[in-house]
Amino acid sequence: MLSSWDKDFSTGGLPPHYHKYNISFRASKAIDYVMPSPKDQLAGMHRAIEEALSLRFPEHRPPSGLFSPIHYTLSLGGKRLRPLLSCVASYCFTEDWQKSLPAALALEVFHNFTLLHDDLMDRSPLRRGQATVYRRWGDNTAILSGDAMSIEAYAALGEVTESKKLPCLLSIFSKMALEVCVGQQLDMEYEERQDVTVSEYMEMIRLKTSVLLGASLQIGSIIGGASPKVASQLYESGVALGLAFQIQDDLLDVYGDEATFGKPIGGDIINAKKTLLLLYALEQLKGHELEELKEILALTSEDRRNQIAHVRSLYEVAGVRTYAEQVVKQYTARAYALTEALPLRSEGKELLLTLFDTLAGRKS
Ligand code: IPE
Ligand code: IPE
Ligand code: MG
Ligand code: MG
Ligand code: MG
Repeated sequence: MLSSWDKDFSTGGLPPHYHKYNISFRASKAIDYVMPSPKDQLAGMHRAIEEALSLRFPEHRPPSGLFSPIHYTLSLGGKRLRPLLSCVASYCFTEDWQKSLPAALALEVFHNFTLLHDDLMDRSPLRRGQATVYRRWGDNTAILSGDAMSIEAYAALGEVTESKKLPCLLSIFSKMALEVCVGQQLDMEYEERQDVTVSEYMEMIRLKTSVLLGASLQIGSIIGGASPKVASQLYESGVALGLAFQIQDDLLDVYGDEATFGKPIGGDIINAKKTLLLLYALEQLKGHELEELKEILALTSEDRRNQIAHVRSLYEVAGVRTYAEQVVKQYTARAYALTEALPLRSEGKELLLTLFDTLAGRKS
C-alpha cells in the first residue's frame, strides 16, 4: 500500500530547497488511496516545517557567536503553531499548501526572534525546557541574534514564489511586526502601572500575541488563493484564537507544570505582569485580602519571588482560575464559529478546526 504521504507530488515553482517537501495528501493511484486523519495531516505539515527550518538554519554557520543561538532556539522545537496556521490556511484554498512554506518559515522565525527579546525583557531563564539565549550567551547575543532572525524572517517571506502577492504579504507582515512591538511595549509599561483595565489588557495581548496568529492565517490563505475579504475574516478568527492562546499562557504561567510547559512557573507574578488573572483578582478581592495582593505588587520583583504560593492562594479565593478558563473557552469558541462560517475547502476547514481543538486545554 502506498504511504499516505505521496512524495512524488510536485510543488511547482518553489525554490529548489523547498522541493524536498513534496508531501501531498493525494496518493497517485486512486486504488491505494487512504485519506490520512486530520491529526496525521497536521503531523505531516509539522514535519515539513521542521525539515525546512533545519535546512535553512544549519548547525554550523560562521560566525557561530551570531548563528549558533539561532540554530539552538529553532532546534528546540515548540509547537510550530504559526507556520501550521499558515500552511493549513493555504490548504483551505488549494491542495498545494507547500506554496506557503516560505511564509510559514518567516512566521516561525519572526516568532522565535520575539522570544529571544521577550526572554531578555522578562528576565526569564527557561524556554522550551532549556536555558534562554540571554542566559546562555549574554544580553548582547540575545539582541543581535534576535535582530538577525527578524531579518531572516523577511528574507524567507521574500521567497514566496507568487511575486505579485509579495507587496500585499509584506504589508500585512510589517503591520503585524510593528504591532507586536507596540504590544510588548505596553506589556512592559503595565508592569509599573497599578490601574490597568481589562480592556487595556485585552488590547495589549491582541497586539503582542494575537495579531501574529491572525496574520499567519491571513498570509497563508492569500498564498493559497483566498479573496482579500475571506483572508481578513480568517485574520479575525486568528485574533480570537490568539486571545484565548495568551490567556491560556497566562494560566499556565501560574498553574502549569514547568517540565511540560518548558518555562518557569510564577514568572508573571514575579514581574507583576498585569494578566487577566491578576486584574480579576484585584476586582474580586475585598478587605485584607485585597490589601495583601496590593502589598505584594508593591514589593520588588526579587521579594515577590517568595510570594508565588501566597498569590496563588489569593487567586483561589477570587476564583481566578475558573474565570480565566471560561474566557479561554469563549474566545476559542469565537475563533471556531468565525472559521466555521467561512467558504473554505472542507478538507482545509476540518484541519483548521482540528488545530484549534489541539490548543484547547493545551499544557505546553
Ligand atoms: C510563546 O508562544 C509566546 C506566547 C505568545 C505565549 P508559544 O507557546 O507558541 O511557544 P512555542 O513556539 O510553542 O515554544
Ligand atoms: C508573549 O508574552 C508575547 C511575545 C513573546 C511577543 P509572554 O512573555 O507571556 O510569553 P512567554 O510566556 O515568555 O512565552
Ligand atoms: Mg515572556
Ligand atoms: Mg513577555
Ligand atoms: Mg507568558
